[in-house]
Amino acid sequence: MLLEIKDLSVEVEGKEVLHNINLEIDHGETHILFGKNGSGKTSLLMAIMGISGYKITKGSIFFKGVDITHLPINERAKMGIGMSFQRPPTISGVKTRDLIEKINNNGKSTEDIAESLDVAEFLDRDINLGFSGGEIKKSELLQLVAQNSDLILLDEPESGVDLENIKVIGNVIKNLLQKHLRRQRVRAGLVITHTGLILNYLEADRGHMLLDGGIRCEGNPREMFEAIRNFGYEECARCQR
Ligand SMILES: Nc1ncnc2c1ncn2[C@@H]1O[C@H](COP(=O)(O)OP(=O)(O)O)[C@@H](O)[C@H]1O
Ligand SMILES: [Mg+2]
Repeated sequence: MLLEIKDLSVEVEGKEVLHNINLEIDHGETHILFGKNGSGKTSLLMAIMGISGYKITKGSIFFKGVDITHLPINERAKMGIGMSFQRPPTISGVKTRDLIEKINNNGKSTEDIAESLDVAEFLDRDINLGFSGGEIKKSELLQLVAQNSDLILLDEPESGVDLENIKVIGNVIKNLLQKHLRRQRVRAGLVITHTGLILNYLEADRGHMLLDGGIRCEGNPREMFEAIRNFGYEECARCQR
């Protein structure tokens, strides 16, 4: 297994937001995380990445067989975990180019990576400063492509993105997670989506639905998405269990 989450409980601001989560992602797999607002999806990704404030009160996280439950975020990133945030911060005074050059582990030049995403002009701007919703998502992907992580965590990569740019973003994510590279690469993904649009670009292996901080349903992600769209989250949990 690439990622193993065992019986994980997480607290934010003194409140338990995730309860006894079990989740395994194997090399090369893409998993989808569904769930209504406030169900704990972002908290789960934050806990896997090791963001401060998301306190693990129970259970453990293993990555590449190593217990990372208490490792700091930079160690996790070096081991090969990368994340695209739902709402990343603006970092005034730091040029995107300087960040990308520091984290570039891709084998391609910073310019080439930016060109491939059609965001060359971002390089000389401060990170996310004045970026539109869609530009922020592209900036996050630029960082992920440069990092070349083995596990990529995507928190609503298509939210706030217009229909044309969804194509661009969808194809970048498709390239990151495509299956035919499976034998050469270990890259895997855990993707949060509300709209389901990103499913059109992915060969997703498994879906998980969070409700009130617990995984309530698992299965084929497309079937789950259809069930949620037609009957709602609660109904989906009832019928698929
Ligand atoms: N920094 C925080 N302070 C207080 N509560 C938080 C914080 N972050 C998340 N929460 C709470 O944790 C729960 C789960 O939130 P989140 O993981 O963001 O859900 P989702 O991504 O599924 O919408 C919500 O009730 C949310 O209000
Ligand atoms: Mg969220």
